[in-house]
Amino acid sequence: MPPSCAALAERLGLTILPEDQSLEAGSLCLYWKEDVLSLGRAGSREYPVAVDFVRALQQRRQGPELLIKAVTGNLSVKLAVIDATAGLGRDSAILLGRGLAVTMVEQNPVVAALLENAIDRLKLQDAEAAGRLSLNSADAADYLAQHRADVVYLDPMFAASGKSALAKKDMQLFQHLLGHGDEDSRLLDAALASAEYRVVVKRALKAPPLAGREPGVAIKGKAVRFDVYPLKSLKQLNA
Ligand SMILES: C[S@@+](CC[C@H](N)C(=O)[O-])C[C@H]1O[C@@H](n2cnc3c(N)ncnc32)[C@H](O)[C@@H]1O
Repeated sequence: MPPSCAALAERLGLTILPEDQSLEAGSLCLYWKEDVLSLGRAGSREYPVAVDFVRALQQRRQGPELLIKAVTGNLSVKLAVIDATAGLGRDSAILLGRGLAVTMVEQNPVVAALLENAIDRLKLQDAEAAGRLSLNSADAADYLAQHRADVVYLDPMFAASGKSALAKKDMQLFQHLLGHGDEDSRLLDAALASAEYRVVVKRALKAPPLAGREPGVAIKGKAVRFDVYPLKSLKQLNA
């Protein structure tokens, strides 16, 4: 067993079971196989979910242009972004793939462990990209109160219904693990205080704006939209 697996189990207060140990069907469990950490359900036929930045950087996800437009204003600027609700790191990977520096913040220790494991694997494959990516396992509002970035990006909740940024299977798994956030206002205030140029919030297309606050601009796709709260013009970065 890799030493980091034992250390992780201790940190998360989990028990390591031998592979053949039977668990109650449907229990959430972490799997550690060939240095890849993943989250799944015991007895499920579905593949467990892992974060894979190497693959994400190779195969760009469909529809990332709107996110890039919302974050960079389509300017070729090298921004430092805090992805304050990192989740499975899919949006972070898109930003990373465009050459931005990304600091991920994730409050859930299990999700943070999936991200940390993926960063470790990225370091072995692409040291340059890994050098632009970091992770903090913390509450975003607390973290943002202490740190600044050019842009703060928020995608706080897995949508309960309708189209989601995540596939349905992943969404259900993570809803079960995370529950729903109810601190939208605190989070948005912290993001607005931390960002230099703008805050971008991902929403389901028809969802109300975060904390009921209207954005300056909304960039709409077929299923999601990116609400932009501008603070300063990004053109100043080019000047
Ligand atoms: C919808 S997911 C983000 C998905 C992500 N954009 C992606 O591309 O994979 C929301 C994540 O934000 C995290 N989150 C919600 N509120 C948070 C907070 N206040 N601080 C840190 N993380 C938070 C949740 O734990 C969850 O993992």
